[in-house]
Amino acid sequence: MTSTGLRVFDGAVAIVTGAASGIGRALSEELARRGASVVLADVQPEVADVAAGIPCASGRAASGCTIDVTDFDGLRHLIEGVAGRYGRLDCIFNNAGIAAGGELRDHTLAAWNRVIDVNLRGVIHGVQAAYPIMLRQGFGHIVNTASMQGLMPSPLTASYSTTKHAIVGLSKALRVEAAGAGVRVSVLCPGVIRTPLLSGGKHGIFIAAIPEPEQRDRALRYFERLRPMDVRQFAVKALDQVARNHAIIVVPAWWKVFWWLDRLSPRLSLFVAQRVFESARRDLFGPSQPKRQCVAVRSGVAADAALADELRAGAHGRRLKAGAFSEETVHVLSEAVHVLVHGLRATTMKLDHERAHARRCDQVREPETVYVYEYVYGDGAGRRLGG
Ligand SMILES: NC(=O)c1ccc[n+]([C@@H]2O[C@H](COP(=O)([O-])OP(=O)(O)OC[C@H]3O[C@@H](n4cnc5c(N)ncnc54)[C@H](O)[C@@H]3O)[C@@H](O)[C@H]2O)c1
Repeated sequence: MTSTGLRVFDGAVAIVTGAASGIGRALSEELARRGASVVLADVQPEVADVAAGIPCASGRAASGCTIDVTDFDGLRHLIEGVAGRYGRLDCIFNNAGIAAGGELRDHTLAAWNRVIDVNLRGVIHGVQAAYPIMLRQGFGHIVNTASMQGLMPSPLTASYSTTKHAIVGLSKALRVEAAGAGVRVSVLCPGVIRTPLLSGGKHGIFIAAIPEPEQRDRALRYFERLRPMDVRQFAVKALDQVARNHAIIVVPAWWKVFWWLDRLSPRLSLFVAQRVFESARRDLFGPSQPKRQCVAVRSGVAADAALADELRAGAHGRRLKAGAFSEETVHVLSEAVHVLVHGLRATTMKLDHERAHARRCDQVREPETVYVYEYVYGDGAGRRLGG
C-alpha cells in the first residue's frame, strides 16, 4: 500500500471529532506534540478553549470548532474548509461518541436513535465528507473510534455495542476498498480508558430506573475495577499504531484476550459474557445496597467502635495505629477493608500464628486470631464473616 503524500504526523493536517474531552482531547494534544496542525471539533463550545491551551510546534496550529457530528452539512463544511485552508487533509479521527447503559428491554426508540445518530451516523458523516477529499489527494488516513464493545458480546450496552460493531465493519470494508487509492483506514478499539465517559460523560444516556447520579456513581465504581488506562498513555500507544497503519487497534493490549476468545470460541465468549452480565446487572442497576464496611476484632474482644473507626480510616488510605496489631497485621487488615470496600469478596482472614511468630513481629505479643466482620452502617450490626 502506498500513500506517498501522507505525513505521519509531523507537518500533517488532522481533524479530531469529540475533541473537547477524554480520548479526542488526548489524541489532539499528542498529534500536536508530534508536529501536526490539529482542528478540534466538538459539540461543546469549550473546545475552543481546549484548542487554545494546546502548545504547538512553530508553523503549526491548533484550532477549535463547535460542531455536532449528527449534522452532515455542518461537518462537511468544516472538513472541506480545513482541506481548502491547508491545501491537504492527512488524517481524520471520527471519535465523537456517547455512552448508553441499561438493559435492552428498557431502551426507548428515542435512545436507540440518539446512540445511532451520534456514534454511527457521526462516523459515517466524517467518512462521507473526508473520503472524497482523500481520494482526490491520493493519500489520507481515516481513523474511526469503535470500542472493545465492537469486538465482543457486551450485554447492558446493546445499542452502544451495536454502533461499535458497525464501526468495526465499516472500517474493515473501507480499508480494503481504499487501499488501492492510497487511503488508509484504521479502527480504534479502546478497552477501558479513564475519561468522563466512564461515568456517562456529558451526553450519556441512562436507561435504568434508578436516579442518574447513582447510576453515574455506580458506573464509575464498576469501571474502576477494570483498571482504566490513563488517557494520555492511551493516545501515545494508539497513535504509535496508527502511524504503523494497523487495521484494528486494541489498547490496552490485554483486552485482546477477549477479542481472541470471541474469535476462537464464540460459545465460550458468550458464556463469559453471560457471567459478566449477571454480576454487572446487579452492580450497575440492581437495588441499592446499604453501605458495607469491614471491622476486624481480636479473638475474645467485641467489635468496638474505636477499632472500627481505625479500620474505616485505613480504608481511605491512612495507616492504622491499632496498638495490639503489628504493622504487618495492620497492613493485611487494611487490605481486607480495601477489598471489601471495592465490592470484591473477602470472606475470611485468619492470620497464621506460626508465620506471625516466625516474622518476629515485636508488637504481636501472643498468637491471636483475627476475625473480619462485615459492618453495616446505620443499624450498627456486625456479621461475622470468618476467622
Ligand atoms: N473511555 C473509554 O473507556 C472508551 C472505551 C471504548 C470506546 N470509547 C469511545 O471513545 C470515544 C471518545 O470517548 P471518551 O471516552 O473520550 O468520552 P468523553 O465523553 O470524554 O468524550 C466524548 C466527546 O464527544 C463529544 N460529543 C458527544 N456527542 C457529540 C456530537 N453529537 N457531536 C460532536 N461531539 C460530540 C463530547 O462532547 C465529548 O467531548 C467515544 O466514541 C467512545 O465511545 C471510549
